[in-house]
Amino acid sequence: MSITKLDQIYEGKAKKVFATSDPSFYIVEYKDDATAFNGLKHGTITGKGIINNKMSNLMFQLLEKNGVKTHYVEQLNDRETVVRAVKIVPLEIIIRNTAAGSFSKRYGVEEGRELLRPTLEFSLKDDALNDPLINDSHIIALGVATEQELDAIRTMAYRVNDVLREFFAGIGVKLVDFKIEAGRLPDGTIILADEISPDTCRFWDAKTNEKLDKDRFRRDMGGVEEAYQEMFRRITGQKGNV
Ligand code: TMP
Ligand code: ASP
Repeated sequence: MSITKLDQIYEGKAKKVFATSDPSFYIVEYKDDATAFNGLKHGTITGKGIINNKMSNLMFQLLEKNGVKTHYVEQLNDRETVVRAVKIVPLEIIIRNTAAGSFSKRYGVEEGRELLRPTLEFSLKDDALNDPLINDSHIIALGVATEQELDAIRTMAYRVNDVLREFFAGIGVKLVDFKIEAGRLPDGTIILADEISPDTCRFWDAKTNEKLDKDRFRRDMGGVEEAYQEMFRRITGQKGNV
């Protein structure tokens, strides 16, 4: 693909986004920076950017094969990928299969309890407000997304869960919960954007419940790099220390 990387247009906690010579595409660059608790905790997870880039791209390709439209276009190198230029809908879209994290805290439910059905919740992406939970009626009333867009987002999120849950079960990993983001193409179509990685999902070993995700960093459990490498190894059958 012959596009040129132009100015940086955004820097998030884990990625940078660059404009390109073609307005239909951006280039994302994955960093090793890790934060938690809305940036209160900072660190580096060596090699994370490479693993999250490659893993997200594999997940996006799997999802495309299963009928989910994503922003993925082409991986350029270890840390950079061409994606379709979208406007991100400012929502964290969270699906849970098993109680954990903020859900367990909020409802007083022990971590690890299987939910009777997958749940979907939204947080407003707004660091200044600490990403508050938001419901469908608030989303529509505030113009964050339309009713039609919410329908598309819901359908997409449950489809992503079905595909990923089955895939991870096949490599001995329980998909506890995950966060995705949606983007709008210029014609208004909603597609899957952002990333799918141990930063944005909870992965537990299916047999031992060992945590193989960013909770090891959030909770100071040690073995953070090793967990990312183990996930990458299981997904690709390769060594994770790429
Ligand atoms: P939570 O239990 O802390 O609400 O997290 C639910 C899921 O969302 C979990 O898989 C981690 C992911 N997540 C993010 O990707 N970004 C965030 O800022 C937070 C708080 C959670
Ligand atoms: N990425 C989020 C932040 O810094 C939090 C998290 O993943 O727990 O704040």
